[in-house]
Amino acid sequence: MIKESKILDIASENGTPLIIIDHNQIKKNFEIFRKNLPRVKPYYAIKANPEPEIVKTLYKMGAGFDIASWEEFEIVYNAIEGMENEKDRFMNDKTIYANPVKRIDSLKKLADYSLRMTFDNYIEIEKIAQYCRNSRLVLRVDVPNLRSIVELSTKFGANQEICMDLINYAKKYGLYVEGLSFHVGSQCINIDNYAQAFKINRNIFKQAEEIGIKLKLLDIGGGFPAPYEEDVPSFESVAEVINENITHYFDDPDIEIIAEPGRFLVATAAVTVVEINGKALRDNKIFYYVNDGVYNTFSGTIFDHIQYHFKAFKTGELKESAIVGPTCDALDKISLNEHLPDLNIGDLIYSEKTGAYTNASATHFNGFPPAKIVHINI
Ligand SMILES: Cc1ncc(COP(=O)(O)O)c(C=O)c1O
Repeated sequence: MIKESKILDIASENGTPLIIIDHNQIKKNFEIFRKNLPRVKPYYAIKANPEPEIVKTLYKMGAGFDIASWEEFEIVYNAIEGMENEKDRFMNDKTIYANPVKRIDSLKKLADYSLRMTFDNYIEIEKIAQYCRNSRLVLRVDVPNLRSIVELSTKFGANQEICMDLINYAKKYGLYVEGLSFHVGSQCINIDNYAQAFKINRNIFKQAEEIGIKLKLLDIGGGFPAPYEEDVPSFESVAEVINENITHYFDDPDIEIIAEPGRFLVATAAVTVVEINGKALRDNKIFYYVNDGVYNTFSGTIFDHIQYHFKAFKTGELKESAIVGPTCDALDKISLNEHLPDLNIGDLIYSEKTGAYTNASATHFNGFPPAKIVHINI
């Protein structure tokens, strides 16, 4: 956690709204991941926070990257340092295009690469065969997303019944399926989702083996929860279940195991500082109107289903308060349930754990630009 005095210094130098991203915390999170999941190679899902400085830090730590579009490919390509020809090799070896349904213009631009890319349906195989046929395929399998905060299985993943048929269909098109991937849903607080996913994927590995196809990659996706609330399972407890399942089902050292962590690596690394622009009493509650909202940094309130909380730099008797954003839309309410001391126009407040799916999905609605971002401890 960044000290309050430091947050205030940086805010007075840069103004607000302001996101401060602490790279020491990102490095720490990455190390926790590596230490607890030694068999799993992390490919940072840059959708969680696509700041190039974050890509640089994680690249230096040895991460690979999960990209969801040509544009995210470019962010990684431009951020990594190295000789030009090594960059292409890095992109082929250490990135995965993990969007099961890809835009055709993205596929066309990647035609000269041999990237790993996920798919979960027949038409996608035909698209890849037509526009990007050097690709190495990874089949995204449907797995339970029960009680995960963001359920991805409602949109992606092939039912296990059709997986072998999809693998054979790809073969008919001359494409090679290297392995399987799954995603247990983002902010997965139900660890059993991982256990179920391993079991389902193991069965498909076996079915493939029975017809002479040796799959060699398992991508266990993202979902690793960030500690927004106290009752969120610890990374260690999630890792324990994953390690048990790897030992039980995937002990073959020839099978490469990768993951696509997004939120866990960056959520706790950022603090957002906002300024109070207005104050009104509504329903016996103090409404503070601040200069950042759900259309900007706090977009995760809507898209990511996360409840952000605020702290003041002042002390005093705590009063029931609401924090709402600057736009004219009534949806723009960040939190209706805060307890803060009495604050005045111009006072600053801050919200921790705002590094994932925040600035990544900020808009310019009502003319308000996204918050300034300052990186520290790079
Ligand atoms: C394919 C894929 N991989 C990885 C992630 C990152 O997930 P998380 O931030 O939960 O780790 C997502 C998030 O939506 C995703 O869709």
